[in-house]
Amino acid sequence: MIVSILYLLSPLVSPKPFPLEGSHVLVTGGSSGIGKAVAIEVVKRGANVTLVARNQLKLSDAKDEVEKYLKDSDKQKVVCVSVDLSKDYSAVERAVRQASEMQGPVGMLVNCAGYAICGRFEELSIEDFKVQTEGGRERRGRLDKVGREEPDNFCPTYT
Ligand SMILES: NC(=O)c1ccc[n+]([C@@H]2O[C@H](COP(=O)([O-])OP(=O)(O)OC[C@H]3O[C@@H](n4cnc5c(N)ncnc54)[C@H](OP(=O)(O)O)[C@@H]3O)[C@@H](O)[C@H]2O)c1
Repeated sequence: MIVSILYLLSPLVSPKPFPLEGSHVLVTGGSSGIGKAVAIEVVKRGANVTLVARNQLKLSDAKDEVEKYLKDSDKQKVVCVSVDLSKDYSAVERAVRQASEMQGPVGMLVNCAGYAICGRFEELSIEDFKVQTEGGRERRGRLDKVGREEPDNFCPTYT
């Protein structure tokens, strides 16, 4: 009985899905791998997407690929911004502002930029571990900081 009541009430208390249709999703590392896959999934659901990475050629190829999955090509846009997230913080800030000017406030930030040095534990140097741990945290921190400074522009952060 209690379980049935809870089941009936659950739609009222469950968090509502984030409305992707027409929103601006900024994906770091969007030119490849997990980031590009996320970009494809959100454009299928009607979002406008900004792909952020360094290599412009890879970005442009990814844009062409992601655009194949647009739900409504008259309304949706995919744009690319080239910036190195591990370098100058003001360049990261500029890139995010540029994206917001083109696509509107960022509704969802997806942090996928990064890389992994793969190898046997005993063959990796301490420097390899440092680059992967500290570097990754710093990249995510830079974008999360821009988000905190502009609370209206950034909502959920997925890393
Ligand atoms: N694939 C997996 O199974 C897996 C599992 C767990 C965790 N991860 C982690 O998830 C992250 C993404 O993995 P992935 O497989 O999608 O990697 P990936 O295919 O190599 O994609 C990495 C993306 O990040 C961009 N990027 C790298 N460094 C950047 C920087 N400094 N500034 C801006 N963009 C940068 C790359 O583009 P540019 O090089 O052009 O900048 C690329 O778009 C990595 O950190 C990886 O370690 C992956």
